[in-house]
Amino acid sequence: MPTISSLDAIARTPLAHTPTPIEQLHNLSRYLGCGPLYVKRDDCTGLAMGGNKARQLEYYFGDALQQKADTILITGAVQSNFARMAAAGAAKLGLACHIQLEERVDDAGAEYHRSGNVLLDRILGAVMHAYPKGEDEAGADAKLRVIADELREAGKTPYIIPLAPGHPPLGALGYVRAAAEILDQLADTGNDLDEIVVASGSGNTHAGLLFGLRSLGSAIVVIGACVRREQALQQKRIRDRCQEIAALLQTNSPVTPHDIRLTDNTLAPGYGRMNESTFEAIDLCARHEGLLLDPVYTGKSMAACLKRVREAGSKDQSTLFIHTGGTPGLFGYCDQLQLPRPA
Ligand SMILES: Cc1ncc(COP(=O)(O)O)c(C=O)c1O
Repeated sequence: MPTISSLDAIARTPLAHTPTPIEQLHNLSRYLGCGPLYVKRDDCTGLAMGGNKARQLEYYFGDALQQKADTILITGAVQSNFARMAAAGAAKLGLACHIQLEERVDDAGAEYHRSGNVLLDRILGAVMHAYPKGEDEAGADAKLRVIADELREAGKTPYIIPLAPGHPPLGALGYVRAAAEILDQLADTGNDLDEIVVASGSGNTHAGLLFGLRSLGSAIVVIGACVRREQALQQKRIRDRCQEIAALLQTNSPVTPHDIRLTDNTLAPGYGRMNESTFEAIDLCARHEGLLLDPVYTGKSMAACLKRVREAGSKDQSTLFIHTGGTPGLFGYCDQLQLPRPA
């Protein structure tokens, strides 16, 4: 695997099943009449049903264990995959886990609050807390610090996985490594890629991947599909993240402003809320490829990917979609997912 030498100096606890496969979506590209479409199966990373956060958690748990923490604290949306996977990682490593669930989605059904990731959080033994003001990242982190203080008073050693910007983006390093894995796989198969499409939320996956590819000399275009906030805000976030990764790795960022490419054309009506193009992406991938996408992240980012390949209208363009997981979210959204089927 190609390497970025300073990455090896940073503490990491292996948790993810890697390398994840890259599969070709023959049926879907035939249906769309487009060039080769591939999927990187990061929904198969293990850690209680998989997802991109397994690679990110390897670095947070590496740091937590170095600090001799015994309790992990994390905050996220009610159907947070990050929180569910943190609970799984904590259980595997013999740590306690406190999860704070934020009300970011106004019109969710009853299953949203009890099935999917919420059910798994409970099964994994996490201690659950509620945070009513969903879009207040700094406030959610501040509340975690209050819980951490209480744990400290009770003799525990807590470790917070932060949500708001302003902390070293340790999780992004997981996708700096993933970039090397992808380039290795391309070299093995002889496949060329023009473009990668990936969900862009906190930005750790998008920024890490872009940083890793450019550091290793690859010019593959990376399109971040906005799933949390609009393009202009996300642009700044990815730029800052790349600078922060460079600082962590004690190097200069190889990412130029031109490299940071985003689309928010499948985001509306907002985070965690369904739209027609997301329904279509979930439906097409399931029926043509037996591939499950989730309503919050991969449904929206695949919808953005479909839009790009349709607009490109070229059989020569090859595209890799990063499947970042989130499958348990399907069960949290089952009321909204009664898909219309063709007769
Ligand atoms: C399934 C899934 N995909 C994509 C993302 C977005 O990744 P990031 O926060 O690194 O931008 C998340 C974030 O929670 C996620 O759970």
